[in-house]
This record gives sequence, C-alpha cells and structure tokens, in this order.
Amino acid sequence: MMNLKKAAITGVSGYVPDYVLTNTELETMVDTNDEWITSRTGIKERRILKGENKGSSVMAVAAVKELLEKTNTNPEDIDLIICATITPDLVFPATANIIAAEVGAINAYGFDLGAACSGFIYALTTGAQHIETGRYKKVIVIGVDKMSSIIDYTDRTTCIIFGDGGGAVLLEPSEDENGIIDFIHKSDGKGEQYLNQQAGGSRLPASHETIDNKLHYARQIGAAVFKFAVTNMADYAAKIMERNNLSSDDVSYLVAHQANKRIIDATSNRMGIGDEKVLMNIERYGNTTSGTIPLLLSDFESKFKKGDNLVLAAFGGGFTWGSIYIKWAYDPK
Ligand code: UT7
Repeated sequence: MMNLKKAAITGVSGYVPDYVLTNTELETMVDTNDEWITSRTGIKERRILKGENKGSSVMAVAAVKELLEKTNTNPEDIDLIICATITPDLVFPATANIIAAEVGAINAYGFDLGAACSGFIYALTTGAQHIETGRYKKVIVIGVDKMSSIIDYTDRTTCIIFGDGGGAVLLEPSEDENGIIDFIHKSDGKGEQYLNQQAGGSRLPASHETIDNKLHYARQIGAAVFKFAVTNMADYAAKIMERNNLSSDDVSYLVAHQANKRIIDATSNRMGIGDEKVLMNIERYGNTTSGTIPLLLSDFESKFKKGDNLVLAAFGGGFTWGSIYIKWAYDPK
C-alpha cells in the first residue's frame, strides 16, 4: 500500500465576494479610523459576502469550479474533499458534502475541519496523508470562511480585522521530489479564553438570552492573542527551516496566515528573509481565517517556479498553530 510518493499541490484557485468594505466605511460604523487600522494591522479593505441564504459554500463552490477547470479535472475523479472552516453553512451536515454535491464530485467523501486560522494548514496535511499512503489520487483541500456571519459590527476590536473569502488546492501524487516535504502542527486548549465564539455549540445552545448577550459573535482579547501569535508563528516558521536545513537564502517565499501585518513582519524577521519573499494581501482582504493561505497561493501562483521552497505558517484560535514546508511542484502556466 505504501508508495511513499509525496503529495504535490497541482493547482490553486481563490474566491472573494465583490462587496468591498473599506476602512473609510468602517469609520461610519464604529469609533475607528483608517490611520489606526492601517498602522496596527496593515488592512485597508476586506470583502463581504452579501445576500440572503448564502453560506461559506457559495465561495468554496466558485473556487472549486475554477480549480477543476484550471487543472482540467473531471469532478467524478475527486476522491476526497476537506473543507477547513469555522463558519460552515450549517452545524451539520458538513459543508464539504454540500460543495461536493454542487460541483458534481459524486465519488468523493468529504468532511469539515475546524482549527480556526490554522484550519487550512491542518487540512492540507490531512489531505496529503491520504495521497502519501497511496490510498487516493486526487484530493481537494479548501479553506473558506464567511467571517461576516459571526462578526459584531459594533465591536471595533474585531470588525476591522475580519473578512470573507477562501480558496482551494488540488493535491495529487508527485512525479518527482517536489511536494509537501514536512509539517509541524501544535495546539493548546488553554487559548480558548482569548479567542472564541461562546454560544451556539452544545455547551451553550442558542437561546433568546445568548442572542441578547451577543454570544454568537467571535470575540477576542486581541493583545493577548497577538502576543502568542507573534512568538509562535515566528518560532515554528524558524523550526521547520532548521529541521530541513533551510537557510534564509533557500526560502523562496513565506506564505503566512494574514491576521496582522506586524505578526507577519515578526515572522519574516525571525526567518531572516527580505520583504520581497513575504507574500501579503492582508491590505485587500483582511483576515479571512481559514481562507488566507489558499488566497495567497492563488494570488501569487504566477510567481512560483518548480522547486521553489515555500514556508507556510499560521496561528489562530484554539490556540492552533504550525508550519509546512513545500517544494513547489510546477512552473507558471
Ligand atoms: O487570526 C487569528 C488570530 N488573531 C490574531 O492574530 C489577532 C491578534 N491581535 C491583533 O492583531 C491586535 O491585537 C489587534 C489588531 C486586534 C489590536 O491591536 P493592538 O495594537 O493589540 O491594540 P489593543 O487591543 O492593545 O488596543 C490599543 C488601543 C486601545 O485603546 P487604549 O485602551 O490604549 O486607550 C483600544 O481601545 O487601541 C484601541 N482600539 C482602537 N482604536 C481605534 C482598539 N480597536 C480600535 C480600533 N480603532 N478599531
């Protein structure tokens, strides 16, 4: 069974909704200003999925359809779909199944994976294991969130950060030495108190009281999360370089979760790499939680060459964090 082939990303796609929520518009909603948001976070605007009855799957389906087209893949050949999200369409069934049905992936099994801002990297590793064992040939890994569905637009400490969007990658067995080389994942449940959505789960089901007390919104103690994020994202990006003997010159790009430009800067400083190697689109999309890394891969796909060394890094609610080392598998098409 073990074929020891690496899993390679063989295609990427991203999707963001049309509506642009600018810092200027946020100034009319809460007591904030463009200067504060830009200097503290690096964010200028974010996208919002508007319209009735539209869940995260709407964005994922658009991304997956584009991915199938770009990679010339028949949806019936897809073996597995993993959807990383903390804003699923429904509590159950899984959004991955809704997506599979919409795109015609009738032979795939699917499930959702929730690890907040680290969701996509956890899902990518999980998908890769299905390929590496030789069990499956085509796996789609999605990271998507409709953060606007759980944001309190009267809370200036959260509403300025988050946005909606996501993307998808196709994983296939690698034909050569390129592919997903290594990963380190970590979590610490003590982080719950700093970043969470309190109600709507089994501990505190929805009630009039939970709604009156605004307990269905994402809540964070920003400064505390910032402290953990800065050290852990930098440490684990550095750790994966060390154990794979990658010098800063060897790293082609840092693909970091886009939560705050200052966290990304701290990570790249720790890695000793220049700004030209740091992929950034936080100014346009804000923090899309599970969506940031596939959106980066999709926005910057045309820069990547076969054999490039990419370091992925994320930190998020849980706490959850980690890093992945990828040797990129294809040249720009
Ligand atoms: O993605 C998953 C994990 N999440 C993260 O990684 C986010 C990590 N945290 C952060 O990025 C930052 O903590 C924030 C961007 C959320 C906040 O930035 P900060 O520099 O940590 O600000 P702070 O919370 O320490 O607040 C500083 C001041 C406070 O005023 P006082 O008490 O000093 O007078 C806040 O009330 O800034 C005030 N403030 C604002 N002012 C204008 C907080 N939010 C705003 C705002 N506009 N939107």
